[in-house]
Formats: sequence, C-alpha cells, structure tokens
Amino acid sequence: MPSDLSTGRVLLVGAGPGPADLMTIRAMRAVQGAQALLYDALVCDEVVALAPPGCVRIQTGKRAGRASMAQETIHRLMLRLARRGLTVVRLKGGDPSIFGRVGEEVDYLRDRGVETEVVPGVTAACAAAAQFDIPLTHRGVARRVLFATARTEGGRLVDLDWTSLADGQTTLALYMGRSAVGQLTRQLLAEGLAEDTPAAAIENAGAPSARLVAARLPDLAAALETMAPSGPVLILIGEAAARAAAGLDASDLAPPTAAPALIRKA
Ligand SMILES: C[S@@+](CC[C@H](N)C(=O)[O-])C[C@H]1O[C@@H](n2cnc3c(N)ncnc32)[C@H](O)[C@@H]1O
Repeated sequence: MPSDLSTGRVLLVGAGPGPADLMTIRAMRAVQGAQALLYDALVCDEVVALAPPGCVRIQTGKRAGRASMAQETIHRLMLRLARRGLTVVRLKGGDPSIFGRVGEEVDYLRDRGVETEVVPGVTAACAAAAQFDIPLTHRGVARRVLFATARTEGGRLVDLDWTSLADGQTTLALYMGRSAVGQLTRQLLAEGLAEDTPAAAIENAGAPSARLVAARLPDLAAALETMAPSGPVLILIGEAAARAAAGLDASDLAPPTAAPALIRKA
C-alpha cells in the first residue's frame, strides 16, 4: 500500500548496547529529532535523554519488575502516533534486526500506509567482542559466526538446529540464553562439541560496568552462577572465545567454586 503523506513516519532505530557514544550518528540524530519516542527496557537513560523537550516518551519494555507492553499494543501505539503526523522513533537496544522484532513492526506499519526507516545499531555481540578482545571470526580458527537465541518456552529450550550450532569452527553468539545456559551447554556437548570448547558470558557489554566470565563449555552454567549478573548477558561459545581467558591472570580469579571461572571487568 502506498504511504499516506499526511501521516508521520516511524524510524526503527538501534540504540546500540548501552552508552550513547556507541550509537551511530544517524541514530543519535533520529532520537534528537523525535516527536514521539517508544523505547525498550535495554535502552539506557543517557540515550533517552537525547530526545528533545516536548517529545512524548513511552517506555515499552520491562524495567524494575514492571510488565512489558504487548507487541500488539506497541504496533497500535506507533500507528496512532504516526497518524497524528508525528515523527515516531521506535528505539531498540543493539541492532533492530537482531532479535528486535523489526520485521513484524515494519510489516504492520507499511501495510497501513506508514513510511518506515530502519537505522542500524551495534549489536551486543559486536560490543562484547570489541570490549574483550574476542574476534567473532578469526582466520583459521573461527570461520563463521552464528547469532542465535537460546530462549526457553515453558522452561524448555526452544528448538534449534543443533547440528549447525555444534560446529567447532563457528563462533556462537547467543542472545537471551542466561536461564537456559545449562540445557544449552548439555545439548551442545551431546551434539559433539568438544568439552574443552572455550566459552564466555558477558554482562552489560559495551558499558563501563561490563563483566566477562570465561570457562570451558561444561563449566559455563556454574561460572555464570558465580558471576551472578544483574544486567543483560550475551554468551559466546567457540575457539575465538579462548582469547577472553588468555587475557586473565590469577588476580582475576573468581572466589573458588566447583567450576573454574575467571571473571574480568571491562
Ligand atoms: C531481545 S534481545 C535484543 C538484542 C539486541 N537487538 C542487540 O542487537 O543486541 C535481548 C538480549 O540481547 C542481549 N543483550 C542486549 N544488550 C546486551 C548487553 N549490553 N550486554 C550483553 N547482552 C546484551 C542479552 O542476551 C539480552 O537478553
């Protein structure tokens, strides 16, 4: 359906992993020009503060125990604001195209004649890789990188293509995997990934508060428990993650636990 010029438009913008200086200039300009801002829980206050005075600010994600807005409500809200002629910015953590539901939102709006534009952002895996010296691909070691989600539904891990995941030459970047990490590592080991495969979990990637815990694959779940993160966590699995542990020394050792875990701050 052609777009209606009397309606506003919706920019679906990646805010990056946290700090405002990891946004693209285009993303920053979009927020500075917003008349209505709908932002997810992972978008930090510093970024929201870039919106101009008078901009309608609506938080759509869960923070401090409050419930998230239903996706259908977000759709309708964006549409209503755009039909008032406003420039709407839908601000998402990281990159909108990585587990950001951007496809659904774009389809909903375009089907109703609203012009949309997607502005990319730095995804959590890239932020973690840069901050902790873990190349997602590494010549001769990691030939592929695979972004996957290790979400659970009803306490069970969502079905994934385990054969393609359990590949020694792939770096796995796993989003939303914290609660499923035990099931996930057991499944990867059962599919044949070597026990000494290096793994790391990174909390608050990109921010000064970032922390990394490194462990061999079978010990990752216990290592994460030792870390006890309160922020978002990204998991990296594969030979390239060995460099995360290589930068650690004895003073970085976590308190003794059943699992050898190395925790490092950014
Ligand atoms: C719904 S997904 C959104 C991902 C986002 N679109 C991106 O590109 O980073 C949310 C998950 O991304 C990961 N994540 C997002 N920001 C993160 C950060 N700063 N540090 C570590 N993990 C992060 C966590 O696994 C979190 O549960």
